[in-house]
Amino acid sequence: MSNPSLLILPGDGIGPEVMAEVRRIIGWYGDKRGIHFDVTEDLVGGIAYDTHGTPLHDDTMAKAQEVDAVLLGAVGGPKYDALDFSVKPERGLLRLRKEMDLFSNLRPAQCFDALADFSSLKKDIVAGLDIMIVRELTSGVYFGEPRGIFKEGNERVGINTQRYTESEIDRVARSAFELARKRNNKVCSMEKANVMESGILWREVVQKVHDEDYPDVELSHMYADAGAMQLTRWPKQFDVIVTDNLFGDLLSDLAAMLTGSLGMLPSASLGAPMANGRPKALYEPVHGSAPDIAGQGKANPIACILSFAMALRYSFDQGDEAARLETAVEKVLADGARTADLMGAEGGTPMSTAEMGDAVLAALDASL
Ligand code: NAD
Ligand code: IPM
Ligand code: MN
Repeated sequence: MSNPSLLILPGDGIGPEVMAEVRRIIGWYGDKRGIHFDVTEDLVGGIAYDTHGTPLHDDTMAKAQEVDAVLLGAVGGPKYDALDFSVKPERGLLRLRKEMDLFSNLRPAQCFDALADFSSLKKDIVAGLDIMIVRELTSGVYFGEPRGIFKEGNERVGINTQRYTESEIDRVARSAFELARKRNNKVCSMEKANVMESGILWREVVQKVHDEDYPDVELSHMYADAGAMQLTRWPKQFDVIVTDNLFGDLLSDLAAMLTGSLGMLPSASLGAPMANGRPKALYEPVHGSAPDIAGQGKANPIACILSFAMALRYSFDQGDEAARLETAVEKVLADGARTADLMGAEGGTPMSTAEMGDAVLAALDASL
């Protein structure tokens, strides 16, 4: 049987830096666990624009459709800010999500004990936190039509459209309920049904899916603004949060600070099952290309490493090996390993990206 296939798209800024550490970990699984992947690598984002004049070449898109999973670093950067909107690096990532139909974006926020002191919130509020944000990823205001900048009388008007169909809400709700059943069996759905028709429909459909097929899961509804407040007031009240594309983008960055750093948060973007029964999937850190620290070897590779752990779990049926990698990360943090983003006011010398990779590899060796 052939090895499972993995397409690596390091992208821009710190993307290639954090991905270099993941490549070493993939190598470790081959050498030490006999788990081999057929890895191909390609371009996305600004670097693809520099090379091909487009942030995602059609050949790369086609490859992404064929592989068992895609692993992406980050896209974007100030060098590309002035580009025409249609070829901006971010458009490459959005095309991947849309054409692979990756409607369910899992963004877990877990506070490792060793970092509980480091959150901007008090320790007892975040210690032991383990929540999962399920962000709808292929619709909503990111993709709705009409959109654009138009002339209206003497001035211009910028338009984006929030749009959700019943089936789009239905399928992401189901993925949230399924996940909740494997966790603490609670889903909180967030929208703004008080001011948006799309929010009214969202609430109705989520409730219907619940009542018909998931009555055993505890369901609550919250306005997304109140949800942001509750996430900072007492985040441990949540288990799974399901929300739309834009609210999910905001709430997951907010959740990042509950865990200590944006450099800690992984994500999985999942679509419908392929012929092999596994979902179409793309794994990427929640963070961006971090232009302020790019090229300095300072980036925290943990978000990208934990994204690979999610790939082991959701695409390759290697839950035990995913747990091994997550435990290795937990151990290095408990032992005091810190990149610059994880340094508190007490100071000290931070580790480089590669040194954090070394520490995780050593912890993996120690796990055998
Ligand atoms: P960002 O996530 O790149 O950076 C925000 C802050 O977090 C910065 O101070 C950065 O140094 C820090 N940070 C992020 N990741 C880190 C890591 N692994 N280790 C240590 N520190 C880290 O967000 P931004 O500055 O708003 O965006 C920069 C560019 O990235 C923009 O072009 C944006 O569109 C793009 N972006 C891409 C993605 C993606 O590829 N998925 C996600 C978000 C932003
Ligand atoms: C994210 C990013 C992206 C988004 C951008 C880069 C397209 O912020 O993955 O959170 O807005 O979805
Ligand atoms: Mn974001």
